[in-house]
Amino acid sequence: MPTGPRPGHGYVHGYSGREAERLHDQARTLAGLLHRDTGYPPGSRVLEAGCGVGAQTVILARKSPGAEITSVDVSVPSLEEARERVRAGPGNVSFLQADIHSLPFRDGTFDHVFVCFVLEHLPDPVRALGCLRRVLRPEGTITVIEGDHGSAFFYPDSAAARKAIGCLIELQREKGGNALIGREIFPLLSAAGYRGVSVSPRMVYVDAGHPELVEGFTKKTFTAMVEGVRDEVLGRGLMDAAGFGQGIRDLYRTCEPDGTFCYTFFKGTGVR
Ligand SMILES: C[S@@+](CC[C@H](N)C(=O)[O-])C[C@H]1O[C@@H](n2cnc3c(N)ncnc32)[C@H](O)[C@@H]1O
Repeated sequence: MPTGPRPGHGYVHGYSGREAERLHDQARTLAGLLHRDTGYPPGSRVLEAGCGVGAQTVILARKSPGAEITSVDVSVPSLEEARERVRAGPGNVSFLQADIHSLPFRDGTFDHVFVCFVLEHLPDPVRALGCLRRVLRPEGTITVIEGDHGSAFFYPDSAAARKAIGCLIELQREKGGNALIGREIFPLLSAAGYRGVSVSPRMVYVDAGHPELVEGFTKKTFTAMVEGVRDEVLGRGLMDAAGFGQGIRDLYRTCEPDGTFCYTFFKGTGVR
């Protein structure tokens, strides 16, 4: 059985234990912001495409305990971890190794599709959205959530921090992805043939008045993500160690009592 992509190959964040923890921190911290309006009726069939280590799956399962959720990913190790994570949940999730581009389901199998932080890694997101549309029944819905690293701004501002973020955007672009995809959700869903497309921007604003966001978002989600590509940035000579280190220190500096940090996610929905 194929085991999915090799760790770190073709996927800018890789499959390390630290990255898995980062995905869980991200999902926990953002659950209210991203999922306040995510819910599927009892009996509905839901496909979660690109479930990874199950960080969103546990939230979907808990919020829609009567829905039948099928979660797929190309990475077998990630699926194994996801299975462990949802074990204590309502028991409404089944897992399967599958590629979004060749899903082993008949046309119209699902009432709803959910895809989060996956399109940003794919070379042809319209094609992927078309493959997901095929397995939706007529009038079924898709929900897409993506970030956009161009939406990050912070105080104190820092050229080194902006340059370090730019390196992550560049590495992801070279691997065929798009870290600026959030702003394109409306045109992408429309181009893939979905009707009634609607996009809702969700801004995370962090200051010392929200210590849980300072820890969970600025430090453990965003800065950890940028820090995670350090070796590749230095190896490729995109920045030198001193410059990149300064950029990371400046991102942590925004976590001080006088610092602030902003980032916007985009949640789009459409109908088959
Ligand atoms: C950033 S992770 C997001 C995981 C999860 N949705 C979350 O929000 O925590 C992206 C996931 O997409 C998966 N993936 C990438 N390309 C895929 C494809 N063509 N088909 C299925 N899964 C894919 C990766 O293996 C990885 O687990």
